[in-house]
Amino acid sequence: MADKYRVAIIGCGGIANAHARGYKALENRVEIVAIADPVQEALQEFGERYGIERRYTDAREMLDKEKPDIVSVCTWHKLHAPMTIAACARKPKAVLCEKPMATNMMECDEMMIAAQRNNVKLAIGHQRRFNASFNEAKRLIAQGAIGKPRLVFCSGTNQGLLNDATHSIDFIRYILGDPRALWVMGNIQRKSDRHERSIRIEECAEAVMYFENGTVAILIQELLWPSTLKGMGAIFLGSDGIMEVDERMIRLLDSKTAGWQILEPKGEDPFIAQARELIDWIEGKVEHRGKAENGRAAVEIVMAIYESARMHECVKLQPIGSPLDPSCRLVHTRLSPLDLMIDSGHLPVERPGRYDVRAFLLRGEEMRG
Ligand SMILES: NC(=O)c1ccc[n+]([C@@H]2O[C@H](COP(=O)([O-])OP(=O)(O)OC[C@H]3O[C@@H](n4cnc5c(N)ncnc54)[C@H](O)[C@@H]3O)[C@@H](O)[C@H]2O)c1
Repeated sequence: MADKYRVAIIGCGGIANAHARGYKALENRVEIVAIADPVQEALQEFGERYGIERRYTDAREMLDKEKPDIVSVCTWHKLHAPMTIAACARKPKAVLCEKPMATNMMECDEMMIAAQRNNVKLAIGHQRRFNASFNEAKRLIAQGAIGKPRLVFCSGTNQGLLNDATHSIDFIRYILGDPRALWVMGNIQRKSDRHERSIRIEECAEAVMYFENGTVAILIQELLWPSTLKGMGAIFLGSDGIMEVDERMIRLLDSKTAGWQILEPKGEDPFIAQARELIDWIEGKVEHRGKAENGRAAVEIVMAIYESARMHECVKLQPIGSPLDPSCRLVHTRLSPLDLMIDSGHLPVERPGRYDVRAFLLRGEEMRG
């Protein structure tokens, strides 16, 4: 037991189960020692399901008493920054925080500063980086299967740029080899008081982004589009071929094949692979592919879409340096430009009545998040 890494989980809802599944599959290397959630019912259910005795209603008390080596942050987006910073302040070896990394650039940078200051390895839970189909697509594109990637089409269907498009942007960057975005231009619609996990979101959006490798990506968010992709995916058009990629399969057309080739790569559960790479990262064997810089890049592009809508301009992104470097002012504001638009009256609610598209996650009598 003593040579196993001690894991603590903050937030015992839906995604915490996937984290637990990952750690449980690696029981020779880690042990989940404690959990925290202010909702007794959630604590009890989760604790019983995974046989975890030490249960806390206060995450900070858990961190102080249990001194975990690894902390999983599985709360809603607004708590990602405060919980990650609270965890980092207690100097665990690593923190795995759920996506989206945070709700604005200021929070992202504060999380990175907290991790850096306390020598904590910080990864963000974009587990699609461990999906077999996306990994094969990345490998094929790197070896030139479609020539030089020129254009990517992606349509998000699922409730908000921050929640959903951060995944899409992250896997597009991953498949392309994590290029930096140079500019972003986009627009949004928000006529009703729409929220997602308590965060104000738009009803639909579209964006164009240009990456340093010369690829343009077009994102269509929550707008009807005749896509054949199943689940999350994108279409990559290259100088020498086309690749349609989703979580289950790849359709490839290149100059060497007579027609479409269908590939169905099989691989490990992404949540197990994600947890294993975290341990390997702690041990200095690899760098985690979900490291905070990549989680931050996805939030940055979403904030740039909002900033483009707010300022009616193309938002240019500058290279990431140290988070402490003042030249690291990547979008024009550190706060969410969506919040600024709403608060300044530039995006009036024309159909009043607050609603939360994830209200079904709430327990008890709460409906609104
Ligand atoms: N990687 C993925 O594919 C994926 C999938 C689903 C959700 N998520 C992310 O996971 C996060 C959580 O989403 P969910 O669907 O699991 O939500 P959920 O509502 O099912 O779970 C959140 C839990 O956090 C608890 N909580 C609230 N305040 C807390 C606090 N102060 N301390 C400790 N716990 C607290 C809640 O009581 C709840 O049990 C979100 O940010 C979401 O984006 C990621």
